[in-house]
Amino acid sequence: MICTASEAAARAENLVRRYGSGPAAVTALAGVSIEIPAESFTAVMGPSGSGKSTLLHCMAGLDTADSGRAWIGGEEITSMPDRQLTRLRRDRVGFIFQAYNLLPVLSAAGNITLPLDIAGRDPDRAWLASVVETVGLADRLSHRPSELSGGQQQRVAIARALVSRPAIVVADEPTGNLDSRAGAEVLDLLRRCVGEFGQTVVMVTHDPAAASCSQRVVFLADGQIVGTLDQPTPQAILDRMRALGEPEPRGPGPGPGPGPVPVPVPGPGPVPGPVPVPGPGPVPGPVPVADPGPGRIAQNGE
Ligand SMILES: Nc1ncnc2c1ncn2[C@@H]1O[C@H](COP(=O)(O)OP(=O)(O)OP(=O)(O)O)[C@@H](O)[C@H]1O
Ligand SMILES: [Mg+2]
Repeated sequence: MICTASEAAARAENLVRRYGSGPAAVTALAGVSIEIPAESFTAVMGPSGSGKSTLLHCMAGLDTADSGRAWIGGEEITSMPDRQLTRLRRDRVGFIFQAYNLLPVLSAAGNITLPLDIAGRDPDRAWLASVVETVGLADRLSHRPSELSGGQQQRVAIARALVSRPAIVVADEPTGNLDSRAGAEVLDLLRRCVGEFGQTVVMVTHDPAAASCSQRVVFLADGQIVGTLDQPTPQAILDRMRALGEPEPRGPGPGPGPGPVPVPVPGPGPVPGPVPVPGPGPVPGPVPVADPGPGRIAQNGE
């Protein structure tokens, strides 16, 4: 999908990201170019270790590429001084992580407005009210995260991501910890963020049903974009994943009942392609910035 720079909420040109050096080096991104049109919902899929989180982080200014360029709106982030990048991340990017990453000592309301509080800005009351109403948390605002279900906590995280009306919302496996009903609610919300609020969402997921809520799926393998699918259906996504050699999609988990988003019916079936290779390589372990943990929530609002 080609769009002009002014239409793009974010874009990247030839991003390369390597971790480690010598024989232990891992190329997480091997030259990725992508444009995310404003007011679009994009899913990123691919085998484990294919570079999905790294791409999201480099595009959102959470990680620094070794070469290549990236923009959020019209602003190039790859050449931006740290302080300016921190401010831009706080004001123009909303983050949603699999593990919610809420501050346990704050109420839902406190978590939602945290980015603005840190920035010393007053919330736009009408916008805040409409976000809180949309995520359905009006009667839970005084609760702390430990008093909320996983789905409710993720909805707090979505509200927090939206509160500053960011240029782009990035979500790394936002339904990964949720059962199918809560996952479906979160997906429905993300879709409404785009359709009703005009937000731009990029979501990493392993779940074809989740990805089919998007308008376009981008497939990564070995740190490269190997295909895209517009107006995706779960079946078309499954077919593409099998062709890429991903053995079995991870579903949204054992949920209590059907939600608005259908769980894919077809089983994974036999895998025609080769077994996927892009394992973690000699440098295992999680991406440090992927899961900032409660103590690092300020990444969203430093
Ligand atoms: N901080 C790091 N140090 C070393 N290697 C890393 C680091 N972060 C990522 N990698 C490696 O880069 C590659 C891409 O990792 P990335 O986390 O982007 O994959 P992913 O597609 O998000 O995988 P998953 O679906 O398992 O989350 C992997 O081989 C991974 O081991
Ligand atoms: Mg990942």
